[in-house]
Amino acid sequence: MIALAQSEVALDPDSFRSIADLAYQESGLTLVEEKTSMIQSRLRHRLRALKLDDFAAYCAVLKSDAGRSERRHLISALTTNVSHFFREAHHFDQLADLFDARAAALRAGGRMRIWSAGCSNGQEALSAAITLAERAPDLSQLNLKILATDIDQNVVQFARDAQYPQRFMRGVTTEMRSKYFNVTTEENGEKHYSVAPSTRQLIQFNALNLLGQWPIRTKFDVIFCRNVVIYFDAETQEQLWPRFLEVLHPDGLLFLGHSERIAEPEKFGFECIGPTTYRPLPQ
Ligand SMILES: C[S@@+](CC[C@H](N)C(=O)[O-])C[C@H]1O[C@@H](n2cnc3c(N)ncnc32)[C@H](O)[C@@H]1O
Repeated sequence: MIALAQSEVALDPDSFRSIADLAYQESGLTLVEEKTSMIQSRLRHRLRALKLDDFAAYCAVLKSDAGRSERRHLISALTTNVSHFFREAHHFDQLADLFDARAAALRAGGRMRIWSAGCSNGQEALSAAITLAERAPDLSQLNLKILATDIDQNVVQFARDAQYPQRFMRGVTTEMRSKYFNVTTEENGEKHYSVAPSTRQLIQFNALNLLGQWPIRTKFDVIFCRNVVIYFDAETQEQLWPRFLEVLHPDGLLFLGHSERIAEPEKFGFECIGPTTYRPLPQ
């Protein structure tokens, strides 16, 4: 038998179904057959890393008791982590307005909590931190914290490291770069921007699967969950809305991504108050 080069190993239909079922159970990701070739190319490096000949053998590893850590690699390979600073900028304007409305109460000892749920490499949480720092030079003295979570431990670690190569910096003005980042130049000549400690310390980055338990004992003023539920089916999305409502302040805001919506917001206790912006229905 002639061994196939890894670049030619095909994702067979049975393995596709096993991988799709696992991805759905573990993370809510819905994989459709039309994406077979994309999934195949995203997973070939896992076959190489494990020295496996085909996807059937890979599925056997995933399903075994020892496959737990491989399932994490699987989810990491399958998730789409695209993000950028100040993406969908209108939400950061709304955040700034909300902060202004609460600033006096905050300065009198109140608190504000923000959650970037599905934070990817941290650019969303940092954009929130920079937005607020621009509004309040005394931000570090206020009781304001940002929680940023993602199922993919690789992106969480990247976000914790808080080092952004130049190519990640689109959307950050020159003035912001000098205020909130320190610049270093790598051996290959590419600039790297490390987040200034005063900004970095506003954010706590944690791994968290939105479909699992949420060890959260606070109410959030703002939840960003943008460009995440687009990968979930309607049933999975509908399980999330009541959970967000439960951890959202009665006058807090939930931001979704540009192509996401709560189909029947009132049914889930929300009202839509602007493009992809929701708040709890008044009680
Ligand atoms: C396209 S990125 C969006 C990043 C950012 N929110 C934005 O809009 O720029 C989607 C992120 O959702 C994360 N994600 C997917 N399924 C998840 C789940 N079940 N729990 C938590 N995060 C999840 C992915 O790992 C990925 O980093």
